[in-house]
Amino acid sequence: MPTRTLAKPSEAGNLNLADPRTHAENDLTEVWRWMRATEPVYWHPPVGAAPGFWVATRHRDVASIYFDNKRFTSEKGNVLSTLLQGGDSAAGVMMAVTDGRRHAEIRRILLRAFSPRALSGVVENLEKTTQGLLQDIVSAGGGDFADEVAAHIPLATICDLLGVPSSDRASLLEWTKAALSAEGPDQSAADIWQARNDILGYFETLARQRRRRPGTDAVSVLASSMVNGRPLSMEEVVSNCYSLILGGDETSRLSMSSAVLAFIEHPDQWAAWKRGEVETSDAVEEILRWTTPAMHFGRTALEDVEVGGRLIRAGDIVTLWNNSANRDEEVFPDPFRFDLSRSGNKHISFGYGPHFCLGAYLGRAEIAALLTGLRSLVTEVELNGRPRWIYSNLLSGMSSLPVHLS
Ligand code: HEM
Repeated sequence: MPTRTLAKPSEAGNLNLADPRTHAENDLTEVWRWMRATEPVYWHPPVGAAPGFWVATRHRDVASIYFDNKRFTSEKGNVLSTLLQGGDSAAGVMMAVTDGRRHAEIRRILLRAFSPRALSGVVENLEKTTQGLLQDIVSAGGGDFADEVAAHIPLATICDLLGVPSSDRASLLEWTKAALSAEGPDQSAADIWQARNDILGYFETLARQRRRRPGTDAVSVLASSMVNGRPLSMEEVVSNCYSLILGGDETSRLSMSSAVLAFIEHPDQWAAWKRGEVETSDAVEEILRWTTPAMHFGRTALEDVEVGGRLIRAGDIVTLWNNSANRDEEVFPDPFRFDLSRSGNKHISFGYGPHFCLGAYLGRAEIAALLTGLRSLVTEVELNGRPRWIYSNLLSGMSSLPVHLS
């Protein structure tokens, strides 16, 4: 079983939520519960040279801040790493860190690449890939689910969406791993910077080719679309390709491995799923709530705003903890129960409002494909070693999940 120490509420003041080790080595369930009940908008003190920041933990506060992009901007960064550094170099260019009219224009373009027609072939391939990978690991009697199955599905899917040739996909997987999360606590800033540059350089070359000969893939849509008679700049094209690969790869693959661990830890739910007692769509939503792959996003206040009884000042950083909001007792009956038949599931795993996850349909399709494959190909699943948690203050899940499968 995963060994993370259960942190006590009395330790909250000593926990550095910006430190990846805090999340990899501690179970913060009781700390979140205490914050929701007593300090729902909690002031996290500065650590070293980094500024302090607000920590919103209740579903209603998290949702209201996500929704309000007039008073809370993403343009100074939308995750702790960039917010604490004082900004994101892609602000005003990459959709996730752009607000206002430009955000809406870029989002409208990208939605074309996410239309049901554009996605039908992508989803068909996703289902085939998932079945094939599951068949292989079941035939072998098991293996590392995170590495051998989950790592391959989302990247293959986004690469289909972007029209990335199969010969380039292994390099992209390596760069993506290095750019967004770390398998250990010691990854250097230089490694991360290099991986990001490799991804950007790769997409620039691809986008130039697609601008000359566009297809129907997302790179072509970005490279050839016009806004008010003008194409997107190469910087906009490239950073938004990057945002798709980073936004959609690791989140989905972590949710898949965490789904398998959830089944191992809740045999009654595995049995219910196998017996066909649960709707796929309900099961997918509960897996998203339970696993919450993206623990937080963040904003900067543009004016003084009162939230949860605290005065947030203009310029303050506010972090929104999805993993706490997804266990909020005020919203989810029996929130600590993994219940695949839960209905009216208002989880906030894809965010909310103007920046609601653009890839939500694909993320859901990926989990559905995994569930369907597990039901048809797997009878029993059990742990065969200790899972290894990733080191990240943004994402939650495992880089290794050794399992027996039959
Ligand atoms: C935005 C989570 C899958 C692309 C977001 C946000 C969340 C999220 C919480 C909101 C960020 C914010 O408000 O600052 C997830 C989870 C996923 C997933 C948990 C899988 C289980 C995907 C996939 C793609 C994708 C598959 C693309 C192929 C994006 C993009 C945005 C976004 C482009 C920015 C949207 C905007 O700013 O308008 N995602 N995501 N995501 N996601 Fe996802």
